Parts: sequence; C-alpha cells; structure tokens
Amino acid sequence: MPISAELIELGSHLSNEPCQKCGGAGQLYEPDESSDIDDDDDDLIWDGASSTPCPVCHGRGSSLALFNKSHVPTKYRNAKLVNFEAGTSKLRATLAEVLQYLGGMEWQQPTYRNLLLYGPVGTGKTHLACGLIRAFCELRVTTRFVVVPALFDRLRSSFGDQHHRDYESYEGYEDDDVIRQILKPDVVVLDDIGAAPLSDWDKGQLYKIINKRGNDLHPFVWTTNLEFDAFDKVLESRIASRLLENCRVVHVEGPDYRRRGMKP
Ligand SMILES: Nc1ncnc2c1ncn2[C@@H]1O[C@H](COP(=O)(O)OP(=O)(O)OP(=O)(O)O)[C@@H](O)[C@H]1O
Ligand SMILES: [Mg+2]
Ligand SMILES: [Zn+2]
Repeated sequence: MPISAELIELGSHLSNEPCQKCGGAGQLYEPDESSDIDDDDDDLIWDGASSTPCPVCHGRGSSLALFNKSHVPTKYRNAKLVNFEAGTSKLRATLAEVLQYLGGMEWQQPTYRNLLLYGPVGTGKTHLACGLIRAFCELRVTTRFVVVPALFDRLRSSFGDQHHRDYESYEGYEDDDVIRQILKPDVVVLDDIGAAPLSDWDKGQLYKIINKRGNDLHPFVWTTNLEFDAFDKVLESRIASRLLENCRVVHVEGPDYRRRGMKP
C-alpha cells in the first residue's frame, strides 16, 4: 500500500514553540475589543474577567488553536504521522492504513467512519492517534483526546451528587461541561479502552456517549490493548458494535518502542 506524501505531512508543521502573541499563556490579559472570538465551549482556564483567548493560539479557526484545545498530552505533542518510524513492513502497512483512513473522507461532511488501532503495548497506537489529531487540526476538524480510564473519574466529579443517578434520568446531562466537551468535537480519540476494568456505571456512560455521537455522525478513533475477540465481553456488545460500525480496523504490531533504548 503506498504512503501518500501529501497526507503524511498533514499537521506536521504546527508549531510547538510558545505563541509569540501571548507567550504561551493562551490568553491576553488586556481586553481585545477587536476580537470577535466567542469562546463558549470548553476548558480555558479563566483567571480574570479582563482576559480574552489569544486569537493566534486559542482563537477560533487557527490550526494551532484547534490543536491546543484537543488536549493531546504533553508527551505526545510532538507525535506526528511524519515522525512515526515505520521500520518493518507491518508498521509500514499500518501507517498506510491510517493515512487511507485520513485521506478517504471528506472530513467537513458529517460521517460516522471510525478507526480502531489495537495491539500490544508500546507499538505506537497513541502516537498515531495524536498524529491524526494534528492532521485533523490542519483540516479544521475539531478533535478531543480522551484517556478512557480517566474519563469516568472526571464524569463522576463533574456530576457530583448526581453521579449515582440513573444516567438516563439525569436532566441537564448534555449541558454538563465534561459531556459537552466529548459530544461536540468532530472526532474524538478514545485512548486505552479496556486498560482498566469498566464498572456498570462506566459502561452506561460510555454507551450513552458513543450512541449519541454515533447518532450525530461524529466518529471515534480508538485505541486498545484488548484482543479483537475480547471486545464484546469487556466492553459489552452494544458498545463494541457501535464502535466497530463503519470502522477501519488496524492491528498495530511491532516491538515495544518504549524499550528501544533499554540496555541489558
Ligand atoms: N513507530 C514509532 N515511531 C516513533 N515513535 C514511536 C513509534 N512507536 C512508538 N513510538 C513512541 O514510543 C512511545 C510509546 O508509544 P505509544 O504510547 O504510542 O504506544 P501505544 O501503542 O499507545 O502503547 P500502549 O498500548 O501501552 O498505550 C511514545 O513516546 C511514541 O511516540
Ligand atoms: Mg497508548
Ligand atoms: Zn497565543
């Protein structure tokens, strides 16, 4: 399978340097009257009424702003499709499949086309998912990186006293900040599904999120160490069926990259 030179470069040029306008703070402390940014959405930390989101790195529309809002962990901020080392024919095929997923879609149109990256530890699944996020940012597709085991902790604390209630009957559910942040982006990366056991409550939450996003044609890129035939058991078939709907399934096989520099 050929590697598309154009696709592999997508997102590779987003800067990791601190923003020159705000010095990396993400906001300007003098009100910027000319700014028409309406940052209603998510997670900027406001520490004063007189700050506005920096129009360069947190303003609407710029690729870098989208990237900064995607919550890619610091460790993976430099993970790009172009610096994924495909040293074996299997990894090369993996990269080509990921690029086909990226290139096979008009991403500005709503679509439910999912991507599953599954395989053993340290093979580069999260790296590839973060590389895709960069590419999506350049295509002006909104994204959010979510570590699945951490998601449920955030939901529990966000729902507060309500968290024990039957999720179906939780009024205001879709107004909850954490829920909005995961329902709204065009593409959500669900990293490490199955890394921690899921309680019934976790599964209920996951089902609801996946079902709602699926109905809205908002796809997922998901990664897991689970074996393919364990999905139904560990995730439950209602969740697995929806995630595997219209899904490009990529087995990421290779040595554990984390141990590469290990000396005996
Ligand atoms: N082929 C590769 N080229 C360049 N860097 C890689 C490659 N594979 C892995 N890495 C790097 O190795 C580290 C581990 O990779 P990553 O976290 O993506 O693995 P993973 O498959 O998600 O593992 P796990 O299943 O444990 O979550 C990261 O720092 C990543 O950037
Ligand atoms: Mg990972
Ligand atoms: Zn800035």
